[in-house]
Order: sequence, then structure tokens, then C-alpha cells
Amino acid sequence: TYVVTENCIKCKYTDCVEVCPVDCFHEGPNFLAIDPDECIDCTLCEPECPAEAIYSEDDLPREMEHFLELNAELAQKWPVITEMKDPPADAEEWDGKPDKLQHLER
Ligand code: SF4
Ligand code: F3S
Repeated sequence: TYVVTENCIKCKYTDCVEVCPVDCFHEGPNFLAIDPDECIDCTLCEPECPAEAIYSEDDLPREMEHFLELNAELAQKWPVITEMKDPPADAEEWDGKPDKLQHLER
């Protein structure tokens, strides 16, 4: 499966959702999650993310490993998103900021 990681938080550019052939992105207030039970590892979303927040489970850096479980949990709870929308107005300011997990809204 592919995994959305920390740098998506408060950036949420949504370029990723347009390319997913199986509609496995789910949208929360300021983050997206991939449903690991739906992802077919097509690889298309990874290069689309301007924030470089998407990783294959196999390439997930150790400090981001907990995002695997978090994606699974949040995908259960949030609705599917398939169309790109405008990012938050301050998305660029947040791009690359460290320790964004504390800002995740559920
Ligand atoms: Fe969707 Fe493919 Fe990305 Fe999986 S790897 S979330 S199937 S676009
Ligand atoms: Fe997030 Fe990147 Fe998609 S910032 S919404 S994973 S394009």
C-alpha cells in the first residue's frame, strides 16, 4: 500500500486524488488518508504530491512508520475524495514544517 505522511498535514494539495484508479483517498479536515485495503500499489499518486508526502509502505522512513496505521484508521472514518480542490490558503507556509502531527484534525 501507499501511505500519506506528515507533510500532507495543513498542505492538503489534493493533486493525488485525481490519479487514483480505485478511489482510495479519504478526506479529513486537514489531511488525507489512503485506505490500505483498497490501494493497488499502482504508484501513480506518489509523484503527484507537491509536498512529497506519499510513500510506498516499502520505502517508508522509520520515523514515519506510524502513519501506516494512522492512514488505515482515518480512512475508515473519513469520506472518499476523488476530485481535486483548492488547498488551504496557507498551504505553502506549512509545506516542509516539522512536527505537524500535533496539528492533525480528526
Ligand atoms: Fe491510489 Fe495507486 Fe496511490 Fe494506491 S498507489 S493510493 S491505488 S493512486
Ligand atoms: Fe496531501 Fe500531497 Fe495529496 S499534500 S492531499 S498527499 S497531493
